[in-house]
Amino acid sequence: MTLFVPLIAVAILVALPLAGRAAGGDGLLAVGVPYAALAVFVAGFVRRVVRWADTPVPFRIPTTAGQGRSLAWIKPDRLDNPATTWGVLSRMALEILCFRSLFRNTKQRLAPALKAENAAAVRRPVYVSAKGLWFFALLFHGSLLAIVLRHLRFFLAPVPAWVEGLIALDGLFAIGLPTVYLSDAALLAALLFLFLRRVLIPQVRYITLAADYFPLFLIGAIAVSGLLMRHVFKVDLNQVKALAVGWATFSPAVPAELGAFFFVHLFLVCALAAYLPFGKLMHLAGVFLSPTRNLANDNRRRRHVNPWNAPVKVHPYAEYEDEFRGKMKAAGIPVEREE
Ligand code: HEM
Repeated sequence: MTLFVPLIAVAILVALPLAGRAAGGDGLLAVGVPYAALAVFVAGFVRRVVRWADTPVPFRIPTTAGQGRSLAWIKPDRLDNPATTWGVLSRMALEILCFRSLFRNTKQRLAPALKAENAAAVRRPVYVSAKGLWFFALLFHGSLLAIVLRHLRFFLAPVPAWVEGLIALDGLFAIGLPTVYLSDAALLAALLFLFLRRVLIPQVRYITLAADYFPLFLIGAIAVSGLLMRHVFKVDLNQVKALAVGWATFSPAVPAELGAFFFVHLFLVCALAAYLPFGKLMHLAGVFLSPTRNLANDNRRRRHVNPWNAPVKVHPYAEYEDEFRGKMKAAGIPVEREE
């Protein structure tokens, strides 16, 4: 079920634009749906970020994976346990650009015991480095970014030189006609890895939800429909460009004939945009707002007072003694101050 529900959901998302076209809804699909999806995306995104930004974080709760700053002669780990804003910025940059926490990923396996006599019978768990997830996660996000940036050629006229450069670089090996982009191959390989990891590793399968498969299937369907459009069922790219520039300048004209695959591709992209703020893909913004990542660990140097603590009337010992000093002395109870 965990696997089939998202599969069926994506199949429905593919069927909807086809049905819409059959009912003569090209205008709605080419103009109404993209603007509606954009509106849901922006509103949902802003709402979620505002909610996070609004959530009180009175104290420092950083994830610490190294020695914190303390005494001068103890070497602090400036990246894994940053005590300054610069340290936090460096850690965030490494996390966002290089997925550093995934780089530290480990897996457990059973190794023979250390003592030779019972090595075969007794096995001990050991943790070893596991870089597969890090590599394919980086490949997936990097190729997705390259694809999205390459798509700017549809939206911008004239196409900026750096987009042209990226397109040339991506098709460097000039395999096939039209050229197969490296980022397309990388995206498909990474999607396959991320999917198989969830299906084949029992522990990962156990914790996987339909909401984990759905984005994989949806992005997979977007990639496949895009590839079919590029390599098999060609579309008129001038019309695509006219439509995209029309969206960007708020004067879209419904294209005369763009073919079913374009509408499926576009509808799936709209579904992804509208879904993004409501699911796990919001980690896109969440990583910047995560208090365990974006706070410096200066707990030992700065006193953090909860700013909305309710005022409490306190009665410290010094005041207590002032109040009862006479009586305490009379009863022979020792006092800290004579007067
Ligand atoms: C999340 C956003 C999107 C993703 C991940 C995506 C993905 C892809 C992929 C993987 C391809 C295969 C060829 C290539 O990489 O260029 C492709 C092609 C294509 N996409 Fe997208 N796409 C997205 C958004 C859009 C949008 C908004 C449009 C509408 C303008 C669009 C129009 C096209 C067209 C026309 C092609 C065929 C390009 C060609 O023939 O060279 N895509 N897309």
